[in-house]
Amino acid sequence: MAESRGQWSGRMGFILAATGSAIGLGNLWKFPYITHENHGGAFVLVYIAMVLLVGFPIMIAEVLVGRRTQLSPVSAFRKLGKDKPGGALWAGVGFLGVLAGFSILSYYSVVAGWTIHYTWLSLTGELNRLAADPAGLQTYFGGEFLANGSQQVMYHLLFMGLTTSAVYFGVKGGIEKVAKILMPMLLLILLILVVYSSTTSGFNEALRFLFKPDFSSLTTGSILEALGHAFFTLSLGMGAMLTYGSYIGKDISIPRAAFQISLFDTVIALMACLIMFSIINSSDIDVSKSSTILFTTIPTVFAQLPAASFFNAIFYLLIGFAALTSTISLLEVVSSYAIDDLGWTRKRATITMGSVIAVFGVLNALSLGGNDSLTNINLVGRESTAGVFGTMDYLASNWFLPVGGFLIALFVGWIMGARDTFEELEKGHGYFSGYKIWHFLIRFVAPLAVGAIIVSVILGREYQ
Ligand code: PFF
Repeated sequence: MAESRGQWSGRMGFILAATGSAIGLGNLWKFPYITHENHGGAFVLVYIAMVLLVGFPIMIAEVLVGRRTQLSPVSAFRKLGKDKPGGALWAGVGFLGVLAGFSILSYYSVVAGWTIHYTWLSLTGELNRLAADPAGLQTYFGGEFLANGSQQVMYHLLFMGLTTSAVYFGVKGGIEKVAKILMPMLLLILLILVVYSSTTSGFNEALRFLFKPDFSSLTTGSILEALGHAFFTLSLGMGAMLTYGSYIGKDISIPRAAFQISLFDTVIALMACLIMFSIINSSDIDVSKSSTILFTTIPTVFAQLPAASFFNAIFYLLIGFAALTSTISLLEVVSSYAIDDLGWTRKRATITMGSVIAVFGVLNALSLGGNDSLTNINLVGRESTAGVFGTMDYLASNWFLPVGGFLIALFVGWIMGARDTFEELEKGHGYFSGYKIWHFLIRFVAPLAVGAIIVSVILGREYQ
């Protein structure tokens, strides 16, 4: 079975692919602007605490279920839940994941497509020309580019094409290969940009903003937002880590791998903040630091610095790479369902699912026109925003991921049984001394914390 489903070549293959799934627009776009909105320092600390106390334990849980069953989410929960309370109903957790993968991918790929356009604009020098006038770039992005339906559709389809091709070639031959090429490049580009930003005059201020906490600025809203973001950024709650975990061997330590993935993801999000805030701080123009930060502010500031076109181009390339390794994991969740549950071949599964999502995403691509208020485009927004794009985003980040995460924590913590989870976590690890702490976190802390997000969404609290 494992042979025909595919497997990573080893530990490194898994870590790179899973880190690739985790690092994406969430780290490079969403995290900097929510950090700004929530006043830096204290929010960063709370976010790190959420990753450690909730995200990391749930990641262990997902990978554990994946490896134990060697199946994709729907079959995995069906199999493990069979003789347990709730029985076959647990397969619903897997279905929720497939639905989430479908909806997130259908809009994520639209935004990811923008990076192709922006890389092109940077290379031709056009972006620099536009950015010379900040208001002009704002109008270009919001008024012209987003409203240009055919361009939106074209870039979205291009990105879906890239995603589908990678998944088509399978776990080792496609997904892992792409991650092995793109992840080191991504790291290299980030390092170049961090070094570059450290030479700018705004670097120290950025460091202070990020690492000097002021707890008086913290609200309950910020805490819940940090938690919600931890989910999205670590690709949790929809079975992506479960699916990737189903391709690992018994010789890999799950706690260690999950820790490394969470750590990488967090470090990269902080590096992205450091880069963006440094260059923004070094500029004297009054720029927006909200959700448009990536597509209007950054080019405006780069335009004032030496070698602007080059840095702009590698910057958008970096974001495109990060997004691609994430879209691949989203499609893999949906495809692996068709492979394991419907018995399709990988080729049929990826082409069919990739095409259906691409077509559905066209609605998202076309729903952006006339959206002059860019705050509507809020990648993991808490409010229900306009259009198909906003609805998909709202459903996924407010409902699918938190509810999925909550149920996964309940299942692994309360239903699966300590003997099974303990045994699985010792494989490839040896005696797992942190088991008791993990078990406590997954039984109590994670469900309570995620439950708080769900309750706050039900109560309709808006706390951005
Ligand atoms: N973790 C990705 C990001 O931060 O951009 C988004 C994502 C990918 C969410 C895969 C969920 C997922 F299954």
